[in-house]
Amino acid sequence: MARQYHENVVDHYENPRNVGSFYKNDPKVGTRLVGAPAACGDVMKLHIIDARFKTFGCGSAIASSSLAMKWVKGKTMGQVFTIENTETAKHLSLPPVKLHCSMLAEDAIKVAVKDYMVKRANMHAQT
Ligand code: FES
Repeated sequence: MARQYHENVVDHYENPRNVGSFYKNDPKVGTRLVGAPAACGDVMKLHIIDARFKTFGCGSAIASSSLAMKWVKGKTMGQVFTIENTETAKHLSLPPVKLHCSMLAEDAIKVAVKDYMVKRANMHAQT
């Protein structure tokens, strides 16, 4: 018997917030691609600052990245770095088999923030 997705997953899957991308070499944008190509094949790319995402994957991965981008907007880098997959999984009522989808969103946030920090440091080193 197929498991039903929680209504929050369906909402973010059917109406994903903040889908899109920026120029990857923009020094004002932190971005990285993360994924589980060997496991489920899903990949996620988040852009930090004016939050955008592109996710190629399951409904839970799309919903996790959509929710994460909603939470990223308007936050400081320090606040963004504290967003944890457990909050995402709880909000979306993800079953254990889908927890890695929310972990992907957390990983994507953290690597995008680190990318942003490196770009900022390089930008300041050149001035
Ligand atoms: Fe792999 Fe959702 S099934 S990210």
